[in-house]
Amino acid sequence: MTAMVKAEGVHKSFGAAHILKGIDLEVAPREVFCLIGPSGSGKSTFLRCINHLEQINAGRLYVDGDLVGYRQKGDRLFELKDSEVALQRRDIGMVFQRFNLFPHMTALENVMEAPIQVKGEARAVARARAEQLLDRVGLSDKARNYPSQLSGGQQQRVAIARALAMEPKLMLFDEPTSALDPELVGDVLDVMRGLAEDGMTMIVVTHEMGFAREVGDALVFMDDGVVVESGHPRDVLTNPQHDRTKSFLSKVL
Ligand SMILES: Nc1ncnc2c1ncn2[C@@H]1O[C@H](COP(=O)(O)OP(=O)(O)OP(=O)(O)O)[C@@H](O)[C@H]1O
Ligand SMILES: [Mg+2]
Repeated sequence: MTAMVKAEGVHKSFGAAHILKGIDLEVAPREVFCLIGPSGSGKSTFLRCINHLEQINAGRLYVDGDLVGYRQKGDRLFELKDSEVALQRRDIGMVFQRFNLFPHMTALENVMEAPIQVKGEARAVARARAEQLLDRVGLSDKARNYPSQLSGGQQQRVAIARALAMEPKLMLFDEPTSALDPELVGDVLDVMRGLAEDGMTMIVVTHEMGFAREVGDALVFMDDGVVVESGHPRDVLTNPQHDRTKSFLSKVL
């Protein structure tokens, strides 16, 4: 079976700062893969490498068997053209801590936008799917609201619907609930739980250890640009093997 994501010895530096120091991991199709670690350990950077928002300096990243951002000829790599990178990115949905909705568009228009602009989809088709997706995230009644008229949790659910509108095969979540008031976190996690039940492959950077334990199939603890420990969430969370993992968990649990 082809891994949905495969990282082999991935290194990333910003100037002299060596941020990712050889990441190896595999995410199976339909897996919910949680990524935890201290601030600055490289979690967001790693997610950004997966859809080639950042170039890697060494190693290989594959999504669904395809090399991300490059074409290999013999043992040399050639960077893909922007249009080819854009084509790869279409299959990967990304949800950020800050929701980044288009402020001048309603919730419905936000969800319709990419399929129309990127895929050239007919408005009626895009609208029908957007209505379905807003229903799925529990926001049918907010379709005509602008982002400023929505709570943070509602905006984040629109952002998830917007990512799903492109029918991605992989969803990347970068701390999707950490900017939310505590009482709004649950609704967003419920939507993510529903996606997991429907078999979506997801990489989730999160501090929600409850979500990781209940929904996650795998958990990786990253520190200082390396994978320190990985395994089933229950094992890693209840029986961490490394001191660095223990010390991190003692602060967040
Ligand atoms: N574009 C950039 N230029 C220079 N340095 C960067 C850039 N992006 C990230 N970094 C640095 O890389 C390191 C890892 O950052 P990253 O955002 O991946 O951490 P993180 O694990 O997501 O942290 P947090 O939990 O705070 O979100 C940090 O030291 C950061 O300052
Ligand atoms: Mg981050």
